[in-house]
Amino acid sequence: MAQKAIGILTSGGDCPGLNAAIRGVGKAVRGAFDNQIIGFRDGFRGLVENRIVRLDNAALSGILTLGGTILGTSRDKPHRMPVGGKTMDMIDVAVDNYERHHLDVLVCLGGNGTQKNAYRLMQRGLNIITLPKTIDNDVWGTDVTFGFDTAMSIATEAIDRLHTTAESHHRVIVVEIMGHNAGWLALGAGVAGGADVILIPEIQYDIQSIADAVLSRSRAGKRFSIIAMAEGATSIEEAAAQKKAAKKGKAKAETEHSLDVEAASVRLARNLQRLTGLDARVTALGHLQRGGTPTAADRLLATRLGTTCAELIEKDKTGVMVAARGEKCKAVPLDKVAGKLKVVPPNHTWIRSARLVGTCFGD
Ligand code: F6P
Repeated sequence: MAQKAIGILTSGGDCPGLNAAIRGVGKAVRGAFDNQIIGFRDGFRGLVENRIVRLDNAALSGILTLGGTILGTSRDKPHRMPVGGKTMDMIDVAVDNYERHHLDVLVCLGGNGTQKNAYRLMQRGLNIITLPKTIDNDVWGTDVTFGFDTAMSIATEAIDRLHTTAESHHRVIVVEIMGHNAGWLALGAGVAGGADVILIPEIQYDIQSIADAVLSRSRAGKRFSIIAMAEGATSIEEAAAQKKAAKKGKAKAETEHSLDVEAASVRLARNLQRLTGLDARVTALGHLQRGGTPTAADRLLATRLGTTCAELIEKDKTGVMVAARGEKCKAVPLDKVAGKLKVVPPNHTWIRSARLVGTCFGD
């Protein structure tokens, strides 16, 4: 069979497990199937600017445990890319560079934004395979994304550590956890860390209900509380105001959330201090959750998805995202994935278990 040429890039926010996935794709593509692979630097920008990295044995070796991405990443979109002070549609240039390298397939590792951008390139005739990565775990069609387990472990350890200081000082500590518009990370870490209150975007909260939960713990002799708050969580009032603003066409900018939510967690802590009389503090975990070495579960998942991607390339199966489904990996058509978001269903088993151990969701 003729040798194939494969390109690979990582796009969107980085996460632990990206290098394990690059290694999984690269080693299988080269070693098992005798194909060639090149990397593009900094996501779709590298494809547009034709900045390539040779992925030989040396480059693919020793990276399994490494956090971040050896290719670099960016949030640049090929159809709306800032170039020389202007925003330009660079899809034609991306297509030209794909052809210039005689690529048979372009593998794109990323979250929801990447799935959409990769799909746009697919619509322009490129052979695309994507892998689902993000600490947010919000990619539709896969049981789980790589990066999530590591971030959940980091956030859980943070909650564990905040417990002892909150208890010693009789404080309420609001832990702000990433996750964009989905609550998976705050929910998973909140349950695993035994947070007393978990706030997620999927369940709007009433501050009085949180204050009541904190006060009831105080009356029972527990004069401290840990609140795991997803960065996208909103109160009933804030959600109504946002809905109104959206109707008027003032939709939130895509990157606006992090600054907004920092304010929301601070606002929540201030109001809880007033309503409960307990001292309150905020800890925003931020990008700590995306750094460092991946857990064993993420290394395993990234390797499974990466090597399945290489097998799909061998079978000439493109236009798909490689998804984790139980013990298996499944090729899901990219047109089904692009533009969808996997949020936490209100009746999810993690929520039910948390409620059964007395966790308050602010509703
Ligand atoms: O999508 C991953 C994520 O870490 C989100 O949880 C968070 O909202 C966002 O990226 C932060 O983006 P940036 O790294 O651009 O600040």
